[in-house]
This record gives sequence, structure tokens and C-alpha cells, in this order.
Amino acid sequence: MNIIEWEPALSIGVDVVDEQHKGLVDMINAAYTLASEESNPMQVNRLLAQMGRYAVLHFSTEEQLMKQAGYAGMEEHKAIHAKFTKQVSDFACDGSQDRPLAVFVFLSTWLKEHIMGMDREYAVEVREMLESKS
Ligand SMILES: [Fe+2]
Repeated sequence: MNIIEWEPALSIGVDVVDEQHKGLVDMINAAYTLASEESNPMQVNRLLAQMGRYAVLHFSTEEQLMKQAGYAGMEEHKAIHAKFTKQVSDFACDGSQDRPLAVFVFLSTWLKEHIMGMDREYAVEVREMLESKS
């Protein structure tokens, strides 16, 4: 069972980013499943590896768009992205039993605070930049 489905209310209005954010929703559901069932550390590590790959691709997409738009808050935003990446590697070194739940809470909080917060701020300027090009 999925705990969350992607919905238009989660859109930041930049198609390429929305598509990638759907991948984050999938990972929230995967973390939820691992937290609610008996999971082994290998499954959790697999999800963390996926989160790491996601971070590389997704953050570079966002940061490129911010750069193209000349977004003034880019450095601050990049620093928050770096914290996500650091947290993922910290989880990978953590052997505690409640890791799946911690990953689930971490990703859910990221959706609520980062995607629904900071990402919306840069999206305004990125949309303007993309519209001016089309
Ligand atoms: Fe972001």
C-alpha cells in the first residue's frame, strides 16, 4: 500500500523537476514499506543507494536551472542539497534497527519542507526564465 500518491498540489510548475519529484514520492513509499514490514539491512541499503543516485541527478538538474535563471538564493539552496546528500551517507553508515523509519521520516520531511518550500521559491524565477525562452 502506498502512503502517498503524487498529486498536482505537489507540482512546482517546472515539468522536468516535477517528474523527478515523482521519484522522491516513490522512494517515500518504498521507505514506508520497509518501515512497516520486516526488512533486512540490504533492502534499506538498496534504497539508500537509490536516494544517492537520485540526489546526484536531481540536484544537478535543479542547480543548473537556478544558474540559468540567475537565482540569487542558489548558494543557500545548494547548501541544503548538500545536507541531504550528507544525511544519505550518514544513514548508509548507521546500523540501527529503526533506520527504515528514520529514512521514511527524513524523506517525508524533505517533501513537506523542501519541495513544498524552498523549491517553490526558485521555481518562480525558473518558470519566468523558461517562459522567456519559449
Ligand atoms: Fe531543491
